[in-house]
Amino acid sequence: MRLFIGTEEECDRRAALEVVKQIKSKPDSVLGLATGSTPIGMYRNMAQAYRDGEISYSRVRTFNLDEYVGLAKKHPCSYYYFMREYLFKDIDIPADNIDFLDGTASDLAQECARYEENIENCGGIDLQLLGMGHNGHIGFNEPDTPFESLTHIVELTESTIKANSRFFDSEEEVPRKALTMGIKTIMHAKKIIFFVKGAAKAEVVRQVLQGPITPKVPASVLQLHPNLCVFLDHDAASKLNL
Ligand code: F6R
Repeated sequence: MRLFIGTEEECDRRAALEVVKQIKSKPDSVLGLATGSTPIGMYRNMAQAYRDGEISYSRVRTFNLDEYVGLAKKHPCSYYYFMREYLFKDIDIPADNIDFLDGTASDLAQECARYEENIENCGGIDLQLLGMGHNGHIGFNEPDTPFESLTHIVELTESTIKANSRFFDSEEEVPRKALTMGIKTIMHAKKIIFFVKGAAKAEVVRQVLQGPITPKVPASVLQLHPNLCVFLDHDAASKLNL
């Protein structure tokens, strides 16, 4: 594991640099992407690298971790909409290279199977970006999700619904279900960037990186990944035993 601790801005820059390095060494890289507040600064830096002519995303393919059930791409709270706003509209990635879970699919189980197949057909994810929820979730893999899980449908926990309600007009509007890559899908990525910010997650960061590996803390499985880069701001790292 490689661990970088710095200011929020330093983490945003350094994490984006990992992606830039990845694309320079393999222009047709397959990226796994995340939504949420954590990667926004990093995405700004990734878009800047494109504007500066440092890299092109024209051959990159992307798969996002998750999507709400029932929200169409054009819904302002859908994860697709988020990605378009914070990254896709600012880079040269062709629309056909963006694969996304469709939360409006009529057969959700089939949609999950399609996603797994497409990831495999691309040769697997080269670099997966992960944020983490306050309960240790990665993607929408809530506590007690089996480590063997592939892309699947989830019922969101009350704590996640509450946390995510900040993006909606009210808590009632947050969908109760989502589709997510599974923990096994995530762990198959060749390299993982695990990015956490904020004092509110400091205790769970300690459990994830220095506690037992257990489905009760889904992100703790990352200790088993052979190529893990961790980016923590000073607050998120404040309870680590260094
Ligand atoms: C989002 C995702 C989630 C978030 C997590 C942290 O695609 O997979 O696991 O990474 O909920 O969200 P923020 O960054 O908003 O604290």
